[in-house]
Amino acid sequence: MMSNDAAVSIGDGVYWIGGDDRTATIFEGAFPIPEGVSYNSYLISSKDTTCLLDTVDASIASKFWKNLRTTMGDRKLDYLVINHMEPDHGACITQVLEAWPDVTVVGNSKTFTMLENFYHVVPKNRMEVKEGDTLTIGDHVLKFYFAVMVHWPEVMFTYDETTRMLFCADAFGTFKAMSGALYADEMDFDRDYLEEARRYYSNIVGKYGSKVQAVLGKLKDVPIEMLCPLHGPIWRRDLGYIIGKYDLWSRYEPEDKGVMIAYTSVYGNTGVVAEKLAHLLKERGVSNVVVHSMTTEHTSYAVSDAFRFSNIVFAATTYNNNLHPTMSATLEDMENMAVQNRRYSVIGNGSWAPQADRLIEERVSKMKDMTKVGETLVIKSSLAPEQIPELEKLADDIAASMR
Ligand code: FEO
Repeated sequence: MMSNDAAVSIGDGVYWIGGDDRTATIFEGAFPIPEGVSYNSYLISSKDTTCLLDTVDASIASKFWKNLRTTMGDRKLDYLVINHMEPDHGACITQVLEAWPDVTVVGNSKTFTMLENFYHVVPKNRMEVKEGDTLTIGDHVLKFYFAVMVHWPEVMFTYDETTRMLFCADAFGTFKAMSGALYADEMDFDRDYLEEARRYYSNIVGKYGSKVQAVLGKLKDVPIEMLCPLHGPIWRRDLGYIIGKYDLWSRYEPEDKGVMIAYTSVYGNTGVVAEKLAHLLKERGVSNVVVHSMTTEHTSYAVSDAFRFSNIVFAATTYNNNLHPTMSATLEDMENMAVQNRRYSVIGNGSWAPQADRLIEERVSKMKDMTKVGETLVIKSSLAPEQIPELEKLADDIAASMR
């Protein structure tokens, strides 16, 4: 159990020092977080040595300091391990250096360059580690595994050989603040957090699937009993569940058979076709169908469902002889996050010179291993009654592709 007002012992001499932020509405200046986000920092407090692993975002600094001070008492901090330099975890580093100027800061060469670039500080005591190096903190032996580009180049994971905890930076984290639970097994993760975990992964790390695969491979024989990420719940049971999701997502394999229809509509007519197609797919027994209006929804939701589902339908309007800007942004984000290995279908609209279908194809051709399903449907302003059989045929083809 947890409380936002106190540090929590999570194992032999290890404490969680973190908290929720329900006030922020945007993450990294880009992603809406309507349900907030949490930040985790960890403290190893052995008989004669103390070691903090990462800090937190500035938004919860006062919570962090209260919990850290309460747990530390009047002890001094001996080590600060920086697994990830992004400011949502590094915002309190300079305060830590001010509080304990003799602390030894542990990181790799990239960590220290970033520390200087962000905060213009050079710690008095630095310990630069390399892959596989170890550090003894009392009766804890920490081993460092580099996790390059999961999510930044300096990222490393710290494995505590004593407790078998893996402090895994952004990996296995999620958007969404926690509600009274600290461990994934204390919540219905699948029902309440999986969507936000997927949206977090696909939009933050999604581009670097091969890097995620590399680190999963590196750790496959390491006996891990707890995953301690920098966002979201700690995993102490059923670790295979979340590791399995990361394995699928990073191999760009669909998680579920299903269809994501992403559409843009100026006056609602393309939207009508998208909704009708969703209905026709349901009639054909496709259980997973999700429709996203890209004119009102943030692209991160479509990117997330592109990682989830086997099939994507792009439906868009021509605009200024180009692709409607919201569909253009959606496709750009999908390209950026390396969406690949999916079946796709195309619906274009244009009132006098339809271009959207051709432009969608052009953009999809930049993604790897995309397989077209069905014939492109082009409408002029709105779906003509005589085109309904074409739409039905498209639904037949999509449903057939999933069998
Ligand atoms: Fe949560 Fe890459 O920082």
